[in-house]
Amino acid sequence: MASLTIRKLDDAIKADLRLRSAKNGRSVEEEVRVILREYLDGRTEPAMRPAAAEAAAPLRERAETTSEGRITLIIGGGIAAYKALDLVRRLKERHLRVRCVLTDAAQQFVTPLAASAVSGERAYTALFDPTSELDAGHIRLARDCELIVVAPATADLMAKMAHGLADDLASAILLAAKGPILLAPAMNPVMWSNAATRRNAEQLKRDGIALVGPNTGEMAEKGERGLGRMAEPLEIVAAAERFMRKTAKPLSGQRVLITAGPTHEPIDPVRYIANRSSGKQGFAIAAAAKAAGADVTLISGPVELEGPIGVTVVFVESARQMLKGVEAALPADIAIFAAAVADWRVAHAGEQKLKKGGGMPPLQLVENPDILARIANLKEKRPCLVIGFAAETEHLIDNATAKLRRKGCDWILANDVSAASGVMGGDRNTIHLLKRNGADISVEDWPLMSKEEVAFELVAEVARTLGKPA
Ligand code: C5P
Repeated sequence: MASLTIRKLDDAIKADLRLRSAKNGRSVEEEVRVILREYLDGRTEPAMRPAAAEAAAPLRERAETTSEGRITLIIGGGIAAYKALDLVRRLKERHLRVRCVLTDAAQQFVTPLAASAVSGERAYTALFDPTSELDAGHIRLARDCELIVVAPATADLMAKMAHGLADDLASAILLAAKGPILLAPAMNPVMWSNAATRRNAEQLKRDGIALVGPNTGEMAEKGERGLGRMAEPLEIVAAAERFMRKTAKPLSGQRVLITAGPTHEPIDPVRYIANRSSGKQGFAIAAAAKAAGADVTLISGPVELEGPIGVTVVFVESARQMLKGVEAALPADIAIFAAAVADWRVAHAGEQKLKKGGGMPPLQLVENPDILARIANLKEKRPCLVIGFAAETEHLIDNATAKLRRKGCDWILANDVSAASGVMGGDRNTIHLLKRNGADISVEDWPLMSKEEVAFELVAEVARTLGKPA
């Protein structure tokens, strides 16, 4: 069987091939194989490129647009490399295309095969790749992407970058890059605090390279704890999306936890104490947050509503179950407590149905846990934005102000739920947004809106506060 040497093809065809392969994210050799296969399958006209030079212009344009939504992910050699595969998955969930590059050390922790299986693209390892003649290699990997992410960024990789070394594929890509680079450092805390690493990190920041993390926490080494843990995949995704031009939605990468609906507090197996909450406002917020790209978990009491598409919904009955659901859903970046949680429950709910003949049952009530206050006062795992509602029938702003201070949350959406307002169970709502800034409280009066509009405005305000205008 004859062999084909790409080097010997004429220049116009080579240029055309190079552009096609760049566009499709394949090596030139792979591209030739695809063209041959398509031709043999009858999917392509044989005279596909009659004048390669002419065809090159539109192809070049398209090749340049292929960087859109594409990330080159350099996986460094550290124990956190195993998280890089989850990072790939999270990026792909957001319809981003990821090409993985593994350093030699990274391959001690994850294999190129695993990286390629998760990313759905070839994984790259070698600077001089004899299997892909004419492949622009590190230059293409450096340029044909919107962003280069290095996760984990080891002390060694950071040192190489700070000094402009390029003795392997990863460092050569980083040196050849023209676009933004995001590092997620991960190393032992002593290595992170070492004067050399500090100098290198400062130099890289001066060079315009962005860092996400490291975080404080347990190390892989037994008993070691401190600053050096790689940022969690979703934190890296959120940071990465800030660099992506078109694909980012205002809350993508943010984890939003929402409570909704009433709670049912059992009196016995068939009776319960409830309230008139429909859950509409909380469900609308969940839908709006999802539409804004957030990962949304909705913990709902018993309602007649369907969970919004793409939202993780956990249905509960009582306040105590709702608290458990909320705690299980942490960590979250933003928590919005729209549920009308019963303040009290029956101290000793009957195990069997209470009988009328037994006389009037003494219903002793005890206080339920205040879920909002508990989460707002967490030392660890407190979401960075904790938002509550104040459903009041009188002295709306005064009561809501007192509630904001008492519960320790950041914002309160106060609404009038007196019978005349028609809010409970209705479709519209008039909101007053109270925000706490240290000791000061500001109040913003919103006009009467549908619950969907309230949800949209709230999500937009959250996005603005997090610095990502909707
Ligand atoms: O104290 P009050 O029920 O008026 O507070 C209302 C706010 O607190 C709402 O955001 C509600 O979801 C939340 N809350 C809670 N757990 C409770 C009571 C209220 O999360 N047990």
